[in-house]
Amino acid sequence: MIEDVYKAAANRYDSGMEYARAGRSGILLPRVSLGFWHNFGELAPLSRSKEIMHAAFDHGITSFDLANNYGPRYGTAEETFGQVFRRSFAPYRDEMFIATKAGYEMWPGPYGNWGSRKYLITSLNQSLRRMGLDYVDVFYSHRYDPDTPEEETLQALVDIVKQGKALYAGISRWPLEASRRAFAYLREHDVPCLLFQDRLNIIDRTVVESGVLEAASRAGCGFVSFSPLAQGILTNRYLGGIPADSRAAINFSLKTSSISSEVVEQLRMLDNMARQRGQTLAEMALAWVLRDTRVTSVIIGCSSKEQLMDCIGTVGSPEFTTAELEEIDSIGARIRPLV
Ligand SMILES: NC(=O)c1ccc[n+]([C@@H]2O[C@H](COP(=O)([O-])OP(=O)(O)OC[C@H]3O[C@@H](n4cnc5c(N)ncnc54)[C@H](OP(=O)(O)O)[C@@H]3O)[C@@H](O)[C@H]2O)c1
Repeated sequence: MIEDVYKAAANRYDSGMEYARAGRSGILLPRVSLGFWHNFGELAPLSRSKEIMHAAFDHGITSFDLANNYGPRYGTAEETFGQVFRRSFAPYRDEMFIATKAGYEMWPGPYGNWGSRKYLITSLNQSLRRMGLDYVDVFYSHRYDPDTPEEETLQALVDIVKQGKALYAGISRWPLEASRRAFAYLREHDVPCLLFQDRLNIIDRTVVESGVLEAASRAGCGFVSFSPLAQGILTNRYLGGIPADSRAAINFSLKTSSISSEVVEQLRMLDNMARQRGQTLAEMALAWVLRDTRVTSVIIGCSSKEQLMDCIGTVGSPEFTTAELEEIDSIGARIRPLV
């Protein structure tokens, strides 16, 4: 059977997506980016992955966030991306902003983990082969390595960019002081850090409290928030129990025990507030992250096109009132110790 050739929606940049500048750079990112940590590995049906990816691009999502180890199995999310890229997206490559990372365990032995030059460069070469790309738009150090000299990790990022294998460099989950040194090193070597990636959502505000978000902003670095929905907690997914096909049911990165009746009770309050604002809980949770002007984009995960469309609905959300923000603060603080 010959498959229909994908043709991107003609109105993809007129369907409501908004774009924000990443720090002091030339790059605009869609307020909602699509992440591939879960739901795109070899266990996921290719037809569903393709449907979500097509819908994303058709609605102005130009930013796709991958990593070497996304799957499961490690590498298979990049393979899925590559399959769809070759069949559908190749003509649109220049309209896309594709990220990958290395920093976590990827292959056995001493060279498949953490932050050595050996690991970062060989891992990126593998990622490019899996995705069928000549270059990625941004390559991240996925985590701080306390045992490798910072200069080695950072110089590898600089060299990757100078070799043209990535257009920009980023760092993810680096602690505050090391981040400050990284911003300075990268700038001094003419590869300013484009993006800092970390978790930020109504329940987890560590990056605000630690000062990392402010440090990134002051360094002219954009910020992209991962798990903005707390892996699905901050949506309607668990308001009526734990669905068998949900991330909490898998009980791996999101523990089943996180969805207690106490948590659901708090989520119902957030859900009521969202309804009063005329939106879904997911839309409100994403809008809460995006209201901080230091945040460039939220990276969402989704296991269906319907979830994706719900998340995109956050763009153009009404402003929060002071009373709403105070209420969200106190509900978030009550949920935090429970999950
Ligand atoms: N740099 C890092 O260290 C790091 C770490 C983690 C993630 N990330 C990046 O951030 C991305 C997003 O992380 P995440 O997947 O944890 O994000 P998330 O958006 O907080 O959670 C995604 C999950 O929430 C549920 N969901 C999403 N939209 C929904 C909706 N509208 N209604 C109901 N449920 C909905 C789905 O759960 P079900 O699957 O149960 O349907 C989905 O898989 C990752 O894919 C990855 O690219 C980076």
